[in-house]
Amino acid sequence: MERTVDAVVEAVAEAAPDIRGGLIGRRSYRDSANASGERQLAADVYADQLLEERLGGIDGVGEYASEERQEIVDVGEGLSVAVDPLDGSSNLKSNNAMGTILAVYDDDLPAAGETLVAAAFVLYGPITSMTVAREGVVTEYELVDGEMQLTEDAVELPADPVVYGFGGRVPDWPDDFESYARDVERELKLRYGGAMIADVNQALEYGGVFAYPALESAPNGKLRLQFEGNPIGYIVECAGGASSDGSQSLLEVEPTGDIHQRVPLHVGNESLIERLEASLD
Ligand code: F6P
Repeated sequence: MERTVDAVVEAVAEAAPDIRGGLIGRRSYRDSANASGERQLAADVYADQLLEERLGGIDGVGEYASEERQEIVDVGEGLSVAVDPLDGSSNLKSNNAMGTILAVYDDDLPAAGETLVAAAFVLYGPITSMTVAREGVVTEYELVDGEMQLTEDAVELPADPVVYGFGGRVPDWPDDFESYARDVERELKLRYGGAMIADVNQALEYGGVFAYPALESAPNGKLRLQFEGNPIGYIVECAGGASSDGSQSLLEVEPTGDIHQRVPLHVGNESLIERLEASLD
């Protein structure tokens, strides 16, 4: 299993320069929508196909699933990988940060977060970095031509939180979330860029809280459990923080059987997530 996880993580690192390079010329929308009904950019489809080819070919990988396709692909026997090939791809038009998210489950998909054996994200910022969580430890690398160069070997959320970022339109927030947000606004400073990976990385780096909450118009929020909620919850918890769907850890959320299940997502310093859960009670 260890070897397969190594191979999967390395394959994502090696794919990152190709995904980044492939953004050029792929900023236009296609006629198709993804499985969640969102418009797909040519870059979303390109990144998905590339990852399916590379991850699906690894010995010890049994299933491949992606936010960009309807069905789970059976690729052999072993661990299941779920990816968001280009998180925050609507930022491509405005040339802002985006990411790639990886979840490796030791179970068939859709799987519970508690069966994760590794999770990682690539952040395409001014530098391409990769943050990997395994066995309770979070490690950060810079990717240079797809090679992982260690920059931090035990990433921990700073104890004193500084930043917050909350998605969704304010009038669409339930009242209890809005009153929590008003408190947080008085204490922390806003950092919201519209790509979850980049926004979560602000909280990892400076301490704080990121949420894409339940909305009046979408009681399960916007983000997806298998591709976003579980891996991000796992990474933040391994870095000493907490995650929540509003009442429990994201890793405890029961999969419904829908690979594209959505979940309200809140991650950050433990004290801020405890206060959130108390507010939503
Ligand atoms: O995957 C969906 C996503 O692009 C996230 O990366 C991001 O947090 C969210 O959507 C942004 O949504 P909105 O445009 O509603 O702020």
